[in-house]
Amino acid sequence: MKHVLVTGGAGYIGSHACKALDLAGYIPVTFDNLAYGHRSSVRWGPFVHGDILDRAALDAALRAWQPVAVMHFAAFAYVGESVTNPGKYYRNNVAGSLTLLEAMRDAGVGQCVFSSTCATYGVPQAVPIAEDHPQNPINPYGASKLMIERMLHDFDTAHGLRSISLRYFNAAGADPEGETGEAHDPETHLIPLVLDAAAGVRPDVTVFGGDYPTPDGTCIRDYIHVTDLAQAHVLALQALQAGASTTAYNLGNGKGFSVKQVIDAARAVTALNIPVRMGPKRAGDPPELVGNSSRMRTELGWSPQHADLPDIVGTAWRWHQAQRAGNAGQVIS
Ligand SMILES: NC(=O)c1ccc[n+]([C@@H]2O[C@H](COP(=O)([O-])OP(=O)(O)OC[C@H]3O[C@@H](n4cnc5c(N)ncnc54)[C@H](O)[C@@H]3O)[C@@H](O)[C@H]2O)c1
Repeated sequence: MKHVLVTGGAGYIGSHACKALDLAGYIPVTFDNLAYGHRSSVRWGPFVHGDILDRAALDAALRAWQPVAVMHFAAFAYVGESVTNPGKYYRNNVAGSLTLLEAMRDAGVGQCVFSSTCATYGVPQAVPIAEDHPQNPINPYGASKLMIERMLHDFDTAHGLRSISLRYFNAAGADPEGETGEAHDPETHLIPLVLDAAAGVRPDVTVFGGDYPTPDGTCIRDYIHVTDLAQAHVLALQALQAGASTTAYNLGNGKGFSVKQVIDAARAVTALNIPVRMGPKRAGDPPELVGNSSRMRTELGWSPQHADLPDIVGTAWRWHQAQRAGNAGQVIS
């Protein structure tokens, strides 16, 4: 059986990827410092408690498990915090990734699937955004991810370390079987915040700006189901194993939903009242962020299975209910 080292595998997207790897016949070895992840989310393979800034811990894990590849999710990902504390982001994301790449190079692990982000594009010049759109990040988080893409490119040129960077739009939803889901603390993503307001955990949900040049005045974003994201990682890994060259793909739904549409979908799914408070626009929030993921579909055969908003919100809601009931791992239907 082939082992894959999954940095950040105890986190939201990483844990779904571990399940997808397991289903595809790999053994995911989670390498996570639990800064934000959860030990209980590591269910599909061994766990190594380690930090990607710790070269000795990485060397030991690579020696012990001899992975065929690395899936690299470990990062800090709070955009606002990256603006107020950029050092934290450059150290963890950039220096951490450099430490990982050097450890991979020295251990002879030559393939990497990397979690990049649409934040590397910055404010879009046109939507939907394709991979050849200029990358001009407007915050340190996006800049840190762009630097890692650049390092990956250079490590291929110099050392033959091939990689596929996946630039995700907004990951959302939860494992349809209820085995893992989103549990960020603090939570900043729209769908879990809306569901918290539905459940009364928060008094309301704030909508930042209602006069954008969009059909209903609220921002439009591209939500991609986390299970579809996880599947894309397996396809990227298989492509690398088959000899694919270093490249980057967008991963989005290709279809945007407004904040108001998300709230309406959550009202329909939960059959609960969701109080809304209008807030000011946030600096740097473009009216519409939607990705063009057609290259991933045509070149790697990716076919999202959970693209509908009710499916995305519904799986997230079942996970939230199970968490609140203390039944993580069981589906409440
Ligand atoms: N959630 C999204 O919508 C989204 C969108 C675009 C890109 N991404 C990227 O996807 C990846 C996963 O995001 P997520 O939402 O699952 O976040 P998450 O916080 O749930 O997962 C990240 C994991 O990395 C671990 N980690 C962080 N720093 C580490 C370090 N130095 N050493 C070892 N482990 C460390 C954390 O403990 C956590 O388990 C991140 O790289 C993020 O930048 C996420």
